[in-house]
Amino acid sequence: MQTDPSQRREIGVFDSGVGGFTVLRELRTLLPTARLRYLADTAYAPYGNRSPEDIRARSFAISEHLIERGADLIVIACNTATAHAIEALRARWPDRLFVGTEPGIKPAVAASDNGRIGLLATPATAASARLRALIERHAGGHAVTVQGCAGVVDHIEAGDLDSAELQALVERYCAPLLAAGVDTALLGCTHFPLIEPLWRAALGPRVKLLRIETAVARRAADLWHSVPAASAALSVETSGSPERLQAWMAAVLGWREAAVEGWKPSGA
Ligand code: DGL
Repeated sequence: MQTDPSQRREIGVFDSGVGGFTVLRELRTLLPTARLRYLADTAYAPYGNRSPEDIRARSFAISEHLIERGADLIVIACNTATAHAIEALRARWPDRLFVGTEPGIKPAVAASDNGRIGLLATPATAASARLRALIERHAGGHAVTVQGCAGVVDHIEAGDLDSAELQALVERYCAPLLAAGVDTALLGCTHFPLIEPLWRAALGPRVKLLRIETAVARRAADLWHSVPAASAALSVETSGSPERLQAWMAAVLGWREAAVEGWKPSGA
């Protein structure tokens, strides 16, 4: 769709919870005048333990809401929802633009010297056909060790970014990557950059750690073109507790200006 810039309204951004803030943070920097609406589907987080059908149903309900509120471009700031829903969303709304979040296999291949790459993702992303296809298409003979990381997102959602328990979990998930001798690791979940120091500590200084959110935000910004709207605004909604999300945003991101509203998911 080639949207007439004068008609453009909002960019909708969603994730199962707080992970997509890593993408939103980049988007706010790249598009300081855009109207942005963020939906945290907190009541249904984490997505990583859910079935593909569930993840698709959540992605549809959220996209419908964001489109009703005026989104012309939707950024799926969630690897798990991208893996299981982006094709269906594009088919359902062919007149909207959807930007997904996917691990950068190509940049990892370019960064690796020894041909061994590690990928840390949610269990649902790790098990997805889309990820398998992405690896087949882009890994070019490099060995990719994929590790599903159950439980990590729960800690981050709860505001725990550095407990000993979370550290132990991170070490456990990094162990197979180290055993495989990877020299490059990809964070394949938008929550994971929020605990980057833990991944770095567990992987050690010889492993390059790649994040993806800047590339996603750049892609969205390119599609949005430069619309010098005077009405920059940020709206944040959640299917969970607005107060808790507001407190999380203030504590972790230092964002205090956006009020968080409740959103009742359809069918709930
Ligand atoms: N932040 C999401 C992702 O990038 C989802 C994590 C989850 O809810 O399990 O995969």
